[in-house]
Amino acid sequence: MFAMLMSLACTTDEPSVDDTVAVAEDGLTYYADVKPVLDVHCTRCHFDEGLGVGDFTDPDTVTSFAEVMLGEIDSGAMPPAVSDTDCHDYRGSGQLNIDDSELKILADWIDGGKVLGDPATDPQVVPTSGVLSDPDIVLMMPEVYTPAWSDEANPGNEYRCFVLDPELEEDVFFEAMAPEVDNESLAHHIVLFSENRSDLSEEQLDPQGWDCIDQSGAGDGMIAGWAPGMLPVEFPAETGMKLGSEKVLILQMHYFQSGAEPEPDRSGYAFRTKPESEVKEEVIMFPLGLYSFNVPAGDDDYTDSGSFMNSYPVDLKIHGVFPHMHVLGQAYGASITHADGSETCIVEGDYDFDNQLTYQFAEDDMPVVSNGDSIDFYCNWNNSISNDDLPHSEPVNAGYGERTDEEMCFFFSLVSY
Ligand code: HEC
Repeated sequence: MFAMLMSLACTTDEPSVDDTVAVAEDGLTYYADVKPVLDVHCTRCHFDEGLGVGDFTDPDTVTSFAEVMLGEIDSGAMPPAVSDTDCHDYRGSGQLNIDDSELKILADWIDGGKVLGDPATDPQVVPTSGVLSDPDIVLMMPEVYTPAWSDEANPGNEYRCFVLDPELEEDVFFEAMAPEVDNESLAHHIVLFSENRSDLSEEQLDPQGWDCIDQSGAGDGMIAGWAPGMLPVEFPAETGMKLGSEKVLILQMHYFQSGAEPEPDRSGYAFRTKPESEVKEEVIMFPLGLYSFNVPAGDDDYTDSGSFMNSYPVDLKIHGVFPHMHVLGQAYGASITHADGSETCIVEGDYDFDNQLTYQFAEDDMPVVSNGDSIDFYCNWNNSISNDDLPHSEPVNAGYGERTDEEMCFFFSLVSY
C-alpha cells in the first residue's frame, strides 16, 4: 500500500478522484496537517522519555524520522495493535486506529518536501489522553517513590504496590475513573485492586509500598487496568461500580526504566462517584479466563480456549473488556454464541503487552449475554525464540501464574445485569 500511496502522490498529471491527494499537492505543512495526526495517534507514547522511542512532539525529530514513521505505520507495526473494530467497535477507536487518509497525509507531506509551515496554523486538536474531568475523589500514593530497579531477573522493570485509602464513611459508586499519572516516562501500566482494610499487613502499610511482581498482597479483586493512552473508564447514567466503606484500593504500578538516572513518581487514581440512590444497575468486574493451561516451550502458535455459559436468569450487559496476558501473549478473542446459534464478536486482535487497554462499548452497542448464551474465548501465545519479549534466554513451559514468566489468559469484563 505504501508504494501505491507514493505513486498516487507523484502522478500530478493524472486526474485523481481522491480530493485529499489533490489538496496534498499544494502544500501540506507539519503544523497544519501532520502534527494533528501525530497528536491523536502517536504522542501518547512518543514524547520526551515516553514509552516509545523518539519525541514526536518535536518538529525536528519528526522531520528526521518521517520516512521511518511512515514505514512503521504502513507495515501495521505502529500504532500498536488494538482490538479489531470489525469485531466490535468501541469508544475511542478512531484515536486508537490510524486510517489510510491519515497515512496519506504523512506520505504526501514527505513527498512535498516536509514543509514545517506556520505554528499559528496548528488546529490544536485535543491529544489522546486519559485524564478524568471533574473527579470528586483523587487518591495519590502516600509518598514519593523512586524505583530501585533491583529485580535482576527482570532488568528495568519494577512492580510496586501502594495502598490508597479513600476512608469512606459509606459505600460509594464509581461513575468514572482514570489514573493520575505523575511521571509518565516511568508508568508502563497500572492495575487497581480492592482489599479489605482489615486484611492489610504491616508490609502493605509501608508508605514506600512493597514489591508485588508476583502480585503478592495485591488485593481481593481487580477494579481497573490502564496503559498509556487509555481513555477514562466511564459508566452510563444510573450505572456504577460499588466500593464498600470497608475497602481500600491497591495501586499496582508497573514501572519501566526509560532514562539512566533514578526518577521519582507519585501517581494515583481519580474517580467520579455518585450515591447509591442514583444507581439502578451495578457494574461488577467479572474475571472471565483460564486458570489451567500449559504453553509448551518452543511453540510459536499455541492456543487454548474456554467457554462460559450464562445459566443465570438475567441478561448480562458487557460495558467493557480488558484482555490480559503476559509477555508471551500474541492474539486473543472473545465472542458470544447466542442460544439461537448466531454470534456476536466482543473483542479480537493481536496482543501487545505494551498497549493493554479496556475496550469500552457505546451505551447503545453493548454486547448482551442472555440466559442460555455462552461466551467463547481464546488466547494465543508465542513461546519461541521468535518472540522478542521472551522472559528467559531459552523458552520454558509456561503455565498459569502471576509472575511475568508465567502466563495469564483473562478477559476482565465490566458487566451489569
Ligand atoms: C501505545 C504506545 C505507542 C503508540 C500509540 C505509538 N507507539 Fe511507536 N513505539 C512504541 C514502543 C513501545 C516502541 C518501541 C518498541 C517497539 O518497537 O515495539 C515504538 C517504536 C516506534 C518506532 C521505532 C521503530 C524501530 O525502528 O525501532 C517508530 C518509528 C514508531 N514507534 C512510530 C510510531 C508512530 C508513527 C505512531 C503513531 C502513528 C506510534 N509509533 C504510536 C509505542 C507506541
